[in-house]
Amino acid sequence: MKRTDLFTSALTFLAFAFPVVQAQQGATCNSTSPCSSTYPCCSEYGFCGDGYYCLGGCNPLASHTLDSCTASPICENANYTLSDTSRILSNYTYFNGNASEYDWVIEQGSIINTTSNGEAAIALLLTENGGGTLLSSTRYVHYGQVTARLKTGRWAGVVTAFIAMSSIKDEIDWEFPGNQTTTGQSNFFWQGVIPAQTAGVTEPGLTDTFSNWHDFTFDWQPNSLTFLVDGNATRTITAADTTNNATGVVQFPNTPSRIQLSIWPGGISSEPQGTVQWAGGMINWNDPDYISAGHFYALFQSVSVQCNDPTTPNASDTSYIYGTNSSLNTPSIAFSNASTINGAPALIGMSTSAMSLWLGMAVVLTVGGLAL
Ligand SMILES: *[C@@H]1O[C@H](CO)[C@@H](O)[C@H](O)[C@H]1NC(C)=O
Ligand SMILES: *[C@@H]1O[C@H](CO)[C@@H](O)[C@H](O)[C@H]1NC(C)=O
Ligand SMILES: *[C@@H]1O[C@H](CO)[C@@H](O)[C@H](O)[C@H]1NC(C)=O
Ligand SMILES: *[C@@H]1O[C@H](CO)[C@@H](O)[C@H](O)[C@H]1NC(C)=O
Ligand SMILES: *[C@@H]1O[C@H](CO)[C@@H](O)[C@H](O)[C@H]1NC(C)=O
Ligand SMILES: *[C@@H]1O[C@H](CO)[C@@H](O)[C@H](O)[C@H]1NC(C)=O
Ligand SMILES: *[C@@H]1O[C@H](CO)[C@@H](O)[C@H](O)[C@H]1NC(C)=O
Ligand SMILES: *[C@@H]1O[C@H](CO)[C@@H](O)[C@H](O)[C@H]1NC(C)=O
Ligand SMILES: *[C@@H]1O[C@H](CO)[C@@H](O)[C@H](O)[C@H]1NC(C)=O
Ligand SMILES: *[C@@H]1O[C@H](CO)[C@@H](O)[C@H](O)[C@H]1NC(C)=O
Ligand SMILES: *[C@@H]1O[C@H](CO)[C@@H](O)[C@H](O)[C@H]1NC(C)=O
Repeated sequence: MKRTDLFTSALTFLAFAFPVVQAQQGATCNSTSPCSSTYPCCSEYGFCGDGYYCLGGCNPLASHTLDSCTASPICENANYTLSDTSRILSNYTYFNGNASEYDWVIEQGSIINTTSNGEAAIALLLTENGGGTLLSSTRYVHYGQVTARLKTGRWAGVVTAFIAMSSIKDEIDWEFPGNQTTTGQSNFFWQGVIPAQTAGVTEPGLTDTFSNWHDFTFDWQPNSLTFLVDGNATRTITAADTTNNATGVVQFPNTPSRIQLSIWPGGISSEPQGTVQWAGGMINWNDPDYISAGHFYALFQSVSVQCNDPTTPNASDTSYIYGTNSSLNTPSIAFSNASTINGAPALIGMSTSAMSLWLGMAVVLTVGGLAL
């Protein structure tokens, strides 16, 4: 294992890579400057609003009150086959919070159906004008073992990522800068704090991650976090290891998190120099692969989730809710039967037929139409 200082937080840099549509509903928000009652929900991108702003990633600590965000759909054991695109909503602004209806929402970009080495998969696309692609799970995981079967990009500046991200920016990462296809990088963050000493570690010696399917896992337990490649553990962190010895705060990811799959441009001029370098340099938009396909891509075949909630939910529980701090700087998390459905979908004014037309067009889906 080789430590380097060149690691990045998806949290910090996704903001550049995904200049995500934010209706101009309201102010920016954070925990010291939370939203007002008019637009009570602080979205994952740090803007106040209502409707879908209250869903996935809505930050309870930066929203008007602790219960302004819609309750978060509870973890469910699952093996998600991503080629079943009927379970993927092409534009998250149309999501109403019903996690039984969709497993994934596309927050940015687009996907296509494909097959690679005989395995059906989706390709997440990256283009010069359109930017990258980001999918988020509709359900949260509050500890559990999560595996993604994927093939990375192989182009300098193009980053492939499989992460868990909580509403208050606890984060667990597998990331793959595209100029290196025989390594993977594991990392984690607590409440968005960038540590003085990076927690990122490069795992070497993988067979080409562009050409071969690999299973990347993080096994996130209340007191430990283990990263695995093809079922073999490469790294374990204990919660105690993360104690800030000055404050006594345990800086270990501990809040319910969505799973996010992405490809994003680290090597573009709007990114900070450190990110460009970490990503392997500037993207070459004249790369023959880009010219011939019309996009860069990363392939995702499946995601499996084995939940490990610290306590067992009862049959009527549907969601997680935040409570006051259970320990130093750590909000308490409880099960609840509160609905995860948002009462105010963002579709006001759009007829059903216009909506289905729009949804049909939003994602270009072709069966076997991509030569990889
Ligand atoms: C929180 O938001 C306020 C208002 O936008 C801003 O002035 C402040 O710097 C932000 N605080 C942090 C820690 O980002
Ligand atoms: C997912 O697949 C694994 C391995 O085949 C199996 O053990 C597990 O029961 C499956 N989980 C669900 C929820 O179907
Ligand atoms: C994608 O491929 C899967 C499996 O081949 C198929 O079931 C699905 O209908 C395809 N989706 C679209 C929109 O073509
Ligand atoms: C959620 O979606 C499921 C599956 O489509 C559906 O059966 C259920 O009625 C929906 N629930 C609500 C409250 O809309
Ligand atoms: C998603 O839909 C909104 C309208 O609600 C639109 O403004 C936005 O451009 C769409 N996003 C994508 C990536 O197509
Ligand atoms: C995983 O461990 C097994 C047993 O030690 C070994 O045979 C296999 O090559 C390892 N796989 C990887 C990807 O390192
Ligand atoms: C705090 O001290 C313990 C014991 O020396 C050490 O194991 C741990 O890594 C330290 N924590 C950090 C964040 O450096
Ligand atoms: C990829 O880029 C990183 C960061 O610039 C650099 O350290 C590394 O040597 C590069 N790897 C290859 C295989 O070019
Ligand atoms: C509770 O935790 C939050 C988030 O870590 C922190 O900002 C806040 O100061 C804590 N509140 C108290 C009363 O300790
Ligand atoms: C189920 O759990 C909820 C809290 O999540 C609690 O309010 C409710 O009373 C519990 N119901 C039963 C039957 O235990
Ligand atoms: C939640 O459970 C309580 C009693 O345990 C019940 O009064 C309430 O109606 C339930 N709420 C929902 C949304 O099902």
